[in-house]
Amino acid sequence: MYSEKVMDHFQNPRNVGEIEDASGVGTVGNAKCGDIMRIYLDIDENKMIRDVKFKTFGCGAAVATSSMATELVKGKSIEEAMQVTNRAVMEALDGLPPVKVHCSLLAEEAIHAALWDYAEKHDIQIEGLKKPKSDIHEGEEEEEEEY
Ligand code: FES
Repeated sequence: MYSEKVMDHFQNPRNVGEIEDASGVGTVGNAKCGDIMRIYLDIDENKMIRDVKFKTFGCGAAVATSSMATELVKGKSIEEAMQVTNRAVMEALDGLPPVKVHCSLLAEEAIHAALWDYAEKHDIQIEGLKKPKSDIHEGEEEEEEEY
């Protein structure tokens, strides 16, 4: 049911933990299952993501997608990080079962929420970044139909 990559990232998740004095922190919840995700970003003066960590109260698919998402944004610019959608993360993991697609949204939403926090603290605007929803349940149904 799960790809080898999903199992690998679930069993050996990368970048678990927290960053003290993070440049941006984002926390989102999923109303569908009640799970929670928090992402910490350390962003340098050139707006490059120097480090990223995550903590989750979520299922195995949420752990695997967050682990992969943190790997995909680490060392990248903010603009590049904005391209890391849940779809990109799922592709990097060789897919997820349709019922687990909503879990992958947690990582994307938490990264966006952390970038929003960073942007607010630094009084900047990040192109394409919208104010995070505190609850990612809205809009999730259409997404699921695509898979
Ligand atoms: Fe809640 Fe997967 S079931 S994040």
